[in-house]
Amino acid sequence: MAVVTLVLLAACTNMRWVEPADEQPTARPTAKPVPATGLRRGINLGNWLDAPALGEWGVDILPEYFTLIRQAGFDSVRIPVRFSAHAQTEPPYTLDEDFLEIVDAAVQHGLENGLNVILDFHHYDELMAAPAAHVTSFLAIWGQLAERYSGKPATLYFELLNEPYGQLDAATWNDLLGKAVGIIRTSNPNRWIIIGGADYSSIRALQDLRFPVDERLIAAFHFYEPFEFSHQGASWVPDSGSWVGINWKGTDKEKKDITDLLDEADGWSRQHGVPLMMGEFGAIARADESSRRTWTSFVAEQAGKRGIPWVYWDLCGEFALFNCESGDWDQSMLDALTSK
Ligand code: BGC
Repeated sequence: MAVVTLVLLAACTNMRWVEPADEQPTARPTAKPVPATGLRRGINLGNWLDAPALGEWGVDILPEYFTLIRQAGFDSVRIPVRFSAHAQTEPPYTLDEDFLEIVDAAVQHGLENGLNVILDFHHYDELMAAPAAHVTSFLAIWGQLAERYSGKPATLYFELLNEPYGQLDAATWNDLLGKAVGIIRTSNPNRWIIIGGADYSSIRALQDLRFPVDERLIAAFHFYEPFEFSHQGASWVPDSGSWVGINWKGTDKEKKDITDLLDEADGWSRQHGVPLMMGEFGAIARADESSRRTWTSFVAEQAGKRGIPWVYWDLCGEFALFNCESGDWDQSMLDALTSK
């Protein structure tokens, strides 16, 4: 297809990439400059504000944890929030003020401790199951959040939606994400917005992402490979009990499986000039201790080598590296993440 046609198509759709798959470069793509995002090393504060109801999953992130996170060598926190559980179900989908004040405080504790704060809309499962019935609510919620936080410093990042899946397929998600970015831009012209692909934000899903023309977007992917290792015995993953005991020793083959995937993500980023974030990665705490430490250290190091900021999943859930009851770090996991 002639370049002129591509340019025209891009102009018509206001989308950045329109090359059909068979015309995408097969060799390592030509590098485009990838803007720096200010993110480097973070932790997810999961199972807290993303629980179906506050406190239901037993995690309470205390204000002092933000200080401890900063002191331990992290520069970012990602705060997953189930906003959809705290909004009216009818127009204008008003968010609950008491709940928003808890979110405000979390954001503020992060920012005051010098952390980048990623505010992430998590677990909107109803949207994944029936997109047409929920897009209005999704956009209305983002409209409210965007206005509420428009005066915050640039170190507050918005993440549109955790792990789109199900009926929210790539085409539907591409359409919706463009609308959400448009709404956010009316009150936050310059804020970084983070967007993962459909199919649970896998690396492969990057290929199907279509972004509006906008210089302040970050593409997110999540990394749990090999899944049978990282999610062995996870209560929410059917049949994962049979994976218990799978180790990760760091053989050449095991390492190559990981670096091949990270190279794929890195190649995509350079091809499009869009920065990346590995917004979740981690291994469940019940995995063999040495395997877990070796895997975590390797993945963090390899992402870092490619300039990909990472956010470990998570602080004190089933993948914990911190004991929220005693206030102690799992020192070997902390070293695995921060010593290189
Ligand atoms: C989910 C968590 C889960 C984690 C690892 C997150 O995106 O929200 O519930 O523990 O992924 O599977």
